[in-house]
Amino acid sequence: MKIGVPKEILPGETRVAASPDSVKKFTALNVEMLVESGAGEAASISDDMLREAGARIVADAASLYGEADMVFKVGAPCRNGSGAVDELAMMKPDAVLIGLLNPLSDREQAEAYAKHGLTSFAMELIPRISRAQSMDALSSQSNITGYKAVIDAAEQFGRILPMMMTAAGTIVPARVVVMGAGVAGLQAIATAHRLGAIVSAFDVRPAVKEQVESLGATFIEVENTESESAETAAGYAREMGADYQKRQAEVIHETLKKQDICITTALIPGKPAPLLISDAMVRDMRTGSVIVDLATETGGNCESSERNAVVVKHGVTIIGHTNYPARVPGDTSTLYARNLYNFISPMIDGESGSLEIDWEDEVIKGSLLTRGGSVVNAALTKSEG
Ligand code: NAI
Repeated sequence: MKIGVPKEILPGETRVAASPDSVKKFTALNVEMLVESGAGEAASISDDMLREAGARIVADAASLYGEADMVFKVGAPCRNGSGAVDELAMMKPDAVLIGLLNPLSDREQAEAYAKHGLTSFAMELIPRISRAQSMDALSSQSNITGYKAVIDAAEQFGRILPMMMTAAGTIVPARVVVMGAGVAGLQAIATAHRLGAIVSAFDVRPAVKEQVESLGATFIEVENTESESAETAAGYAREMGADYQKRQAEVIHETLKKQDICITTALIPGKPAPLLISDAMVRDMRTGSVIVDLATETGGNCESSERNAVVVKHGVTIIGHTNYPARVPGDTSTLYARNLYNFISPMIDGESGSLEIDWEDEVIKGSLLTRGGSVVNAALTKSEG
């Protein structure tokens, strides 16, 4: 079997779906790894590094797609109308495609894959069960995102984060609040705490209180009657009712007045991000404060943030990059490549290098988008929402 790793072509995508480590591991399973020349360049992974690990470097995308039985992508392949090059059209009709395909936001793509004949898997839909933790690309990417958000905020902030006692006087520590304490939020809390800031956080899911406190931060409570039902069976947040939103807005408004840095990470799967910070709240923040809105891809948690821009409003710097993992491509690519290996390697017969998929496996069933010309994933075939 040949696994092909093309160069990502969407603007701003710096990651690559292979690393020297993953190439070495797949090669040991008798799989041939083909990587498009320059695919890892933006992530500081050179052709030579991949070649040394056992990959065959292929000159261009058309040759790579023409040979690959399985394609590893970071983002969804460009297809008619969604990019300058139609990557989907170049794939072999019976190929297997795996990537962070964003299937819930772009529902038409699965139809296109099915029409092309692809067997496709969306890494986002891998169930978050213990056995699949090592395959969980949402977590691997969010972790690094949470770290980088704090680093970006610290860079924009005109002061330092830790307390510092000097002969010239004492500098008070910065105050950082994190909204949404999932994977990215918890890493942001840990990073800000390590840098010496006074950190607080809140989330609609009361279950995270203990995790927040174990990282040295204060959990901000919103008095309400809805928290009990804030979490779905899958561990995700639900959209909260009007009464909760009103109470939460009051708490956020008062909290923000006393903060220096705010990192927002609140997401609701398959829905627009909840709006947590209004422009009026930004206006009441201290001059020189910084907000990092990690939810701009799905509409943003802050009314004043702008997609892929760093703007200053009411004296507050607001960072709105959409593809945060692409800002740290060395580590996010390596972790993502490892996620792919952990997901795919159990399906490979190490003797023959051939693919043997157990269609009844919970992880396979959860992430399989299309097979045999049809869209088969329950998240897409059931009615929206
Ligand atoms: P996410 O990226 O979907 O959302 C980020 C955070 O925003 C969540 O903690 C969510 O509760 C919070 N949020 C949503 N609406 C909000 C609002 N209006 N106000 C404040 N906060 C709000 O979440 P992520 O990071 O993907 O984690 C989701 C769940 O999956 C968590 O329970 C996490 O612990 C769990 N998980 C389980 C894993 C496993 O068992 N293998 C691995 C990783 C995560």
